[in-house]
Amino acid sequence: MISKTVESALNRQVNRELYSAYLYLAMSACFESANLKGFAKWMRIQAKEEQAHAMKIYDYLLARGGKVSLEEIEAPKVKWTSAGKVFEEVCAHEQKVTGMINNLVDLSMKENDHATFEMLQWFVKEQVEEEEHASAILAQIQMTGDVPGHLFYLDHHLAKRE
Ligand code: FEO
Repeated sequence: MISKTVESALNRQVNRELYSAYLYLAMSACFESANLKGFAKWMRIQAKEEQAHAMKIYDYLLARGGKVSLEEIEAPKVKWTSAGKVFEEVCAHEQKVTGMINNLVDLSMKENDHATFEMLQWFVKEQVEEEEHASAILAQIQMTGDVPGHLFYLDHHLAKRE
């Protein structure tokens, strides 16, 4: 059985992962409007990954006999002025998520909850990749000078994400 403190913190994280999915879907729509189809596809896949992150915690809560409590999902913003601005926000957001995961790990240790600690190790590794991928794309955008006409090659490259 899972403690109420850990249960509540994990439910909060389910909400934040679903918010991440919302945020990336909003970014995907923004790229679609700018005709950057590769960027839009990359973001759409990222949104799906965030849904999978939420479901991983959701399923874990159920497996531990916990209660899933779905909360309202905050609305993300809908407009960004450039691809660089989008990826600056992705980097900042993922750093924030890493902080949340670290706090959850701290809590699992404090509560002596070894199973939750173990489950969270997947997220600790995942966050290293999430931050790495976002900052690599931001660096590539910055190399183009963040000019729409110069983003064609990168857009073509990002379209290859499966
Ligand atoms: Fe679920 Fe992008 O971290």
